[in-house]
Parts: sequence; structure tokens; C-alpha cells
Amino acid sequence: MNSKTHQLRCTGCSAVISGEEAGSDFRCPQCHELYEVEYPGWSSTVAGDEGKRNLPNPSALRWLWKERRESLQPIDQSGVWRYRDLFPILADLNKAVTLREGNTPLYELTRCAAALGLDSLLAKHQGMNPTGSFKDTGMTAALSVAAERGFQWVACASTGNTSAAMAAYAARACLRSIVFIPEGKIAWGKLSQSMDYGAMTVQLKTDFDGCVRVLGELVKRFPVYLLNSVNPYRLEGQKTAAIEMTEQLDWQAPDHVVVPGGNLANGSALGKGFAEMLHLGLINHMPKISVIQAEGANPLYRSFQTSGGRELSPVVAETRASAIRIGNPASWKKVVRVIEATGGSCEQVNEQEIALAKAQIGAEGIGCEPASAVTLAGLKKLVAQGKVAREERVVLLLTGHTLKDSDYTIQYHRGTLLQPEETALGSETEQRQHDALRKPPLVLEADVDAVLRTLEAQMRSEGQSA
Ligand SMILES: Cc1ncc(COP(=O)(O)O)c(C=O)c1O
Ligand SMILES: [Zn+2]
Repeated sequence: MNSKTHQLRCTGCSAVISGEEAGSDFRCPQCHELYEVEYPGWSSTVAGDEGKRNLPNPSALRWLWKERRESLQPIDQSGVWRYRDLFPILADLNKAVTLREGNTPLYELTRCAAALGLDSLLAKHQGMNPTGSFKDTGMTAALSVAAERGFQWVACASTGNTSAAMAAYAARACLRSIVFIPEGKIAWGKLSQSMDYGAMTVQLKTDFDGCVRVLGELVKRFPVYLLNSVNPYRLEGQKTAAIEMTEQLDWQAPDHVVVPGGNLANGSALGKGFAEMLHLGLINHMPKISVIQAEGANPLYRSFQTSGGRELSPVVAETRASAIRIGNPASWKKVVRVIEATGGSCEQVNEQEIALAKAQIGAEGIGCEPASAVTLAGLKKLVAQGKVAREERVVLLLTGHTLKDSDYTIQYHRGTLLQPEETALGSETEQRQHDALRKPPLVLEADVDAVLRTLEAQMRSEGQSA
């Protein structure tokens, strides 16, 4: 671990410690808040001239990051480690554990943009990472720290994607991994991944928040490195999505980035990434960062409604977007600061709205898992409230691949996903949109005439509705 170039600052009492001094739960012993990584040479959080000693030159960085794309070295090919100059957390870069994560596409969602009355709409598809979610970008960073520090065991509590990512990276580094997941409450695709990558997979008879409690006890009694997003090195990897999307926009920061909110680390990480880029002169404005929660797992939304983001009461979380079924988010204070500092918003969306948005993203040939679709559903609300102007450059952060939860997609198209009372919450326009988007599989005799008759009927009905 590179203690000369980085340190940890408590986000509550501002106490500074070295990386090695962090306790096994990554909480400050004085005030119990989380840490964030800072770089004495150039972080804006380091006071006075000390924080400007080694300000990297923005043009040199842009050139270096472009050059690395030509390299055959694994860490240069990684779309996370390519930007390692902004997170010097390892003493020995040979210890970096990489699956060539990052390098994810920025897609145009032209039909969604038109439907919203926006000039354009972009989707940064973090589901195109090696294990199918954005968690890989944080895992490569934090698991590399675990490997460098000589840990044999790593652990996490997860709604499915963190466990998939951790299991894969642990396997690459020949570390043992233990995963706590809520029994029966994660998508099968994700459960299968942690088994496939050889993790000890423990299904606890509780929810995600219960898994976090048990893991919190375990790390105090067993020498295991905690890889939940309370681990600040996770956020250092995740912040590179902000750098990569800005590079993809030719170094023009977007105007607005919309992210799903679960444990609330990702919004925090992106906020940190953009703030550091602004401080270093890599960009000239901060995008607004908005966080969208599912209505049944909305502690942050409630917090803004009831106390302007000052207090947060945990909720018992329930949503089909299982990745964000989290009632007691660890990083809520960090993300409140990001939303406030950037002028973003926090919204909630219901199950019908999530299902519709997911189908609309799918119909553009992109697809994503349900939790990612809250971004589009939330953006509709922000546009309706006049918080997003037609010409603004908006990026939706799609966090997981559509194949992570194919049960959800199949149920949606078969019409068995939503209860009638949930569907009834949608407007008439939304009901019509559902009808047009649903494509249930057809079972036909193996006979071309039957296929032709069905095609003709389909074309007639499309002609009628056109
Ligand atoms: C697909 C997906 N989207 C969004 C989230 C929420 O991210 P965060 O917990 O950092 O808010 C998660 C994980 O929790 C996830 O797996
Ligand atoms: Zn503290």
C-alpha cells in the first residue's frame, strides 16, 4: 500500500490516518463515520500549499491516458488502472488485480431522448464490465489493496453484484472469499456467479442490512478484509467512471449524471471523481449528480423530504430491483454532500415506473438490470419538474447488465411481473407504452404457414395502431 501518496480522512471529524491504521470495519474510532482517501500532494481536502504541492498537469494526464490505450500491459488496458495517477493507492503496481475492467461504452438513447423532449440522452453502461456490473471498477482497486496487504480472506455482504465482483477478483488473486447474501432475495444470475468464481457463498436468513450486521461482527473476530463500500478504496476505483465518461465526451463534463441509489457509495464516488477533476483543471464545471431510489427502498428520499438530508431513518426495504433493496445505506452522508454541492436531486420511482423504463432501455437494444432502470424513470420526473433543460447533456449510469436478472425481464414480457394494482398506478400513456413494449414469446406449430399467418396478423395490428 502506498502510504506516502495517500491517507485516509474521516468524513465526520476530519481525523487523518494512514491506510494501515484503518480498523477492520473502516469506521473512525472517534466518531464512527466513514473515511475517504485523499492524496497529500494534490487533494483539495488538504489545506494550504501542502494540497497543491504535486498538482498533476491536466494536459499531460490526458496525453498519458490516451497513450496507455496503445499499451499491451494489463494495467494500461484496464479502464480503471489507466487513470491510476488519480488514485495512487498501491506501492507495487504489480499487485494490481485486473480483469481489464472499465472501458465501458457511452451509448446514445435516441428514442428515450425524443420521448422526454431532450436533444440527446447518454447511457454509460457499467454493466459491460467483466462480471456485468459497475462493482468491478471498485473491486479491482480495493481487492488489490487486500492482496498487497497480504490478506488471505476477503468478505462482503451483498445484494448480488458486489459478491459476483469480489468472488471473481479474489479468484484471480488466489485469495479466499466469503459472501453473505440475503436468502432468496438476490437474482439467480448473481448467485451463480459467486459460486462459479469459487466463493464460500453464505445465504443468511435475513435481508441485506442483516447481512451487513453479521459481517460487521465477523470482521472483528476473524482476519478477513472487508470489501463492502465502506471500504474507501472501492470508491477510488468507482470514481474512474467519471473520468472515463468525460474522456469519452472529449473532456467536456456532462451537465447532469443520474445514478441509482442503494448503499449510496456510487453517487459518492462519482461526485469525488468529478470534484477532483475540477480541482485539477481537467474539467471546467461540475455536473449535477442526482440519485434515484426505488419507492420501497427510499431512506435517502425520505431523509430529504423530512429533514433536508440531515437525518436518515432506516426502512425495511422491498423492491423487485433487488440490487438496491437496501434500507440502511452506509454512505448516505457522503452522497448528501455530493447532491447538495452539485445542485442535484433525489427522487423515488415506483415498481411500474421501473419496469417501464427498463423495457424502454431494452427496446433501444441496450438493456440493463432493473436497478439501473430507475435512472431513466427518475429522469422523467426531473424533466417534468423542470430540473433538466432540453439542451442539457445528461448521462444515465446503467449499473448492471440485463442478463443479471433475466427472470424479471421474462416475467415483465409475459405480463406476470406487476400486480394489477401496481399497473393501475401508471397513466393511460404509460399503460399504452407497456402494451407496445411487451413482447411475450409465441409458441407456434413448426410450420411456416403458421409463422406467416402470425406475422400478417402482427402487421395488421401494427397498421391499425399506427
Ligand atoms: C446494479 C446496481 N445498481 C445500483 C446499485 C447501488 O449502488 P450503491 O450501493 O453504490 O448506491 C447496486 C448495488 O448496490 C447495484 O448492484
Ligand atoms: Zn471521525
